[in-house]
This record gives sequence, structure tokens and C-alpha cells, in this order.
Amino acid sequence: MRRLMPWLISVVALVAIGFWAGCGGGSTSNDILIGEYSAMTGTTATFGQSTHRGLMMAVDEINAAGGVLGRNIRLLTEDTQSKPEEAATAVTKLISRDGVKAVIGEVSSSRSLAAAPICQANGIPMVSNASTNPEVTKKGDYIFRVCYIDPFQGEVMARFVYNTLGLRKVAILKDIKNDYSIGLAQYFEETFLKLGGQVVATQAYSEGDIDFKAQLTALKGAEPEAVIVPGYYTEAALIVKQARELNMTIPIVGGDGWDSAKLVEIGGESMNNTYFSTAYTADDPDSVVQNFVSKYTTRYSEKPDAFAALGYDAGLILFDAIKRAGGVEGAKIRDALAATRDFRGVTGTITIDRDRNARKPIVIIAVVDGRMTYKETIQP
Ligand code: PHE
Repeated sequence: MRRLMPWLISVVALVAIGFWAGCGGGSTSNDILIGEYSAMTGTTATFGQSTHRGLMMAVDEINAAGGVLGRNIRLLTEDTQSKPEEAATAVTKLISRDGVKAVIGEVSSSRSLAAAPICQANGIPMVSNASTNPEVTKKGDYIFRVCYIDPFQGEVMARFVYNTLGLRKVAILKDIKNDYSIGLAQYFEETFLKLGGQVVATQAYSEGDIDFKAQLTALKGAEPEAVIVPGYYTEAALIVKQARELNMTIPIVGGDGWDSAKLVEIGGESMNNTYFSTAYTADDPDSVVQNFVSKYTTRYSEKPDAFAALGYDAGLILFDAIKRAGGVEGAKIRDALAATRDFRGVTGTITIDRDRNARKPIVIIAVVDGRMTYKETIQP
């Protein structure tokens, strides 16, 4: 009997652990694994870090409310280091090594374009929170996004410059290493020309550049009434700063790639007389937005930016789809995602259209006295 006791204790302990695990205490093999591939480090680290915070909030909220299909959601995060090659490696690991049932990411279109074919080939649904280039979801029927696309954004900004600012001659400065930037420049130009406007000069730079004086000097020579900078805020803020140093006081206009608190941190007062379009603003008085802002601020001691809001919405939309799918098979989740209608997110009411893109409003922000100020919301 003496010799039997230790053995009995371990059997009882093992059974107890197994039972506890089966009930969903802590994270267990019963969890639904969801992958996140995000720029946690590198040139655009704020993209991934904010997305991750928003997404974690969605995960904790759904688990506190009993999870999905009676199971907890467990998020596994892989860093893309802000590089397309690493994005491909990251989703491969998440799918092949970890066996995730769906993937959320990336912010940058170039990185989403690198990862999407891998998700598609494996039949694993992917939801991008912020990639706006139209090519992303064309990679296949498992690829979705919760943000609007650049043909719409380019058109809205062209109309804004032509109608609201009343300007007719613009110059464009785009990032030729960035699919998003190239696309948005093209869509802006198409609408602007159709309206009767003129693009008097175009110049290029590459992500990571820090000196834009040569390009700006060339643009200035063409005497534009505004400069369009469809890029990411890191370079955009430096471009605006250097333009002001060259006495170019004209409006400078960008897209969602500008949306970060870092924009005015880097650019300061020189950002006055700039405008950009985005998915969301924490200043929106809407009660859903304000409720999210207050929960997020309590949790992280900072205001949520657009990535955080879009990460949160990407999570909620995916969890809602898994619930409606009634199971975690890729094809079922895909069909449920495709059927998403009028989902009330923080970034607006989201409907997934037949091309797996989100139809939703655009917000326009103006920088006034070194502060981002909400100007208007434009419906799709
Ligand atoms: N829309 C950008 C892209 O597709 C990503 C981005 C979104 C960057 C929001 C900054 C802010 O590449």
C-alpha cells in the first residue's frame, strides 16, 4: 500500500490536470489558435505594436465573455520585422508549425501581398486590418480585409483637394518601394485628372530615405498648389518638415499611411496646413468609439490610434465569423467572413463585399496648430 500511494497520487493529479484543461482553465489544447503576423520591430514598429494592443483587447474581451464555440481564443504573434520576406516566413511558421485556424495581418500592403498566397494555398483565412492596396484580396478567396481600399481613398482625396481645397495643380511625391504608395498615387491621379485637375510634377523616394530636398526642389520648380505624399508617416513627416524649410507653405496631403501620433511628434508645427484620410479618429463623438477609447486608455495609458482600432475590429469580425461558422474549418470560416454584413465596429459599420473588401466610411483629418483635428466623414 505504501508503495502504491505515490503512484496513485500522480494518477489522480494527471486526471485532475486533464479535467481542468478540458474545462478551458488557462490556455490549453482546446483553445482556438489564431495567428497574428505583425511589424513588432523595424521601420514601422508602431504599426504592429498598436495593432497587437487592439487585438489583445478583443481577445481578452471575447474570452471573458465565454470565448467562441465554448473555447478560448489564443493568439500567437510572429514579428515581420517590417519586411515582406519575413512576413512570408511568419505566416508559414504560424500555419505549418503552430496549426493556427486563421491569420490576422499585416498593416502594410507589401507585407500582406507576400503572405496572402501562403494563406490561400493552405486554405487558412487571412484578415488584414489595414492593407488598403486592392491587389491584396485578389490573391484568393481566403483573403479578407476590414479596411477600405485605395481606389476609394484616392478618389475621396482627389475630390477633397479639387472641391474642398479648390486646388487645380498638384505635384506627387511617392515611395517607389511601397505597393501601397504606388497604387494610391495612381488612383489619386486618375480621379484628379478626370475632375479637370493637373499633375504638374512627380518625384520618387524609397522607404528609409531621410533627405528629400532634391525631390522637393524639383517639385517646387513646377509651381504646384499642393503636394500629394501617399506614403508612411515616418517619411511623410520628414518630407513636410523639409518642404517647409524650402519655403513651400502650400497644403500637403496624404492618406491613411500618415495616421500615427508620431506624425506630429516628428513634424511638429510644420505639419500645419496638411490633410490626410484615415479609417478612424479617437475624437469621433460616436458612443461606440468613445467606449472603445476609454477602455483602451484605461488598459494601456495611451489613446488608441487607427491601427489599434483596426486590430480590434479585425479580431471581433473574425471571432464573430467563427461563431457563425459553427466550427474552425478554413472553408467554413471563409464562408462566414464573406457573409459579414453591417458589423458595428469601432471603425464604422463594416460590410464585406463580394471582393472580400470592407465597404466603410473615410475620415478626413486636418493638422491645425500642430494638432490632428477631425474634419469630416465621407460615406462610401
Ligand atoms: N494602408 C497602408 C498600406 O496598405 C498601411 C497603413 C495603414 C499604414 C494605416 C499606416 C496607417 O500599406
